[in-house]
Amino acid sequence: MQQTMENFTVTIVGGTGNLGGALALRLGAPGVKIIIGSRDAEKAKKAVETLKAKLRAGEVVGTTNQQAVKDADFVVIAVPYEGHAQMVSDLKGQLAGKVVIDTVVPLKGVKPFVPPAGSALQEAQQILGEEAPVIGALHNISAVDLGDVDSSLGDVLVCGDNAEAKQKVIEIVQHIGATAYDGGPATNAYVIEGLTGVIIYLNRKYKSKHGSIKITGIGGH
Ligand SMILES: NC(=O)c1ccc[n+]([C@@H]2O[C@H](COP(=O)([O-])OP(=O)(O)OC[C@H]3O[C@@H](n4cnc5c(N)ncnc54)[C@H](OP(=O)(O)O)[C@@H]3O)[C@@H](O)[C@H]2O)c1
Repeated sequence: MQQTMENFTVTIVGGTGNLGGALALRLGAPGVKIIIGSRDAEKAKKAVETLKAKLRAGEVVGTTNQQAVKDADFVVIAVPYEGHAQMVSDLKGQLAGKVVIDTVVPLKGVKPFVPPAGSALQEAQQILGEEAPVIGALHNISAVDLGDVDSSLGDVLVCGDNAEAKQKVIEIVQHIGATAYDGGPATNAYVIEGLTGVIIYLNRKYKSKHGSIKITGIGGH
């Protein structure tokens, strides 16, 4: 069966959190099945009850991260950087045939840093090896805007080394109402991840919760 927006499943690892919950609301288009993953199945189920009250359409269920990735076509990693490497390691062996979407920004407090692998994306790809392509996306979008399905979104830079997987993620990002750009290979990820640190600074400085990025001067969108 050809994969369309109507027949795929997205698991959000750490889906009980700010970004994951907000993404679930955006993805809730007819037919898209969302699985909220958590380290605690009960916490996932509670998060689903909250989300269901706000979800305009779509189907959402909740379970452990381990269980949640089994039925997924796309696995979004939405946990803080502190838990990133361990979480990806824990899921290794269950991600074959899936596309991993990494949203994680390496931060110490609110300050961005470059991890030893070069970026969170490259760290995940090193852990997973050939098992699954890792594509970076959504780093520069605020969870506040993502969760308000009527608000407009900034642009999304999608990066990674697997062109086919990257194109699929670009389509998903467009599906949630953002303009997606091919942001280049995995070696660009540290810039895109780190930019979030600048956005956090801007939000604080100018007392906003909506900071994002807008690409100008590029045609074809
Ligand atoms: N919030 C934003 O606006 C935003 C925007 C762009 C990118 N991001 C990135 O998206 C990721 C998630 O951000 P967030 O704000 O949603 O984070 P969050 O709410 O603090 O955490 C998300 C979820 O991750 C799980 N978690 C927490 N600590 C963990 C650990 N040590 N190991 C494994 N799982 C852990 C928790 O779920 P359980 O307790 O249910 O397991 C939590 O609900 C971050 O890496 C962040 O940099 C966030």
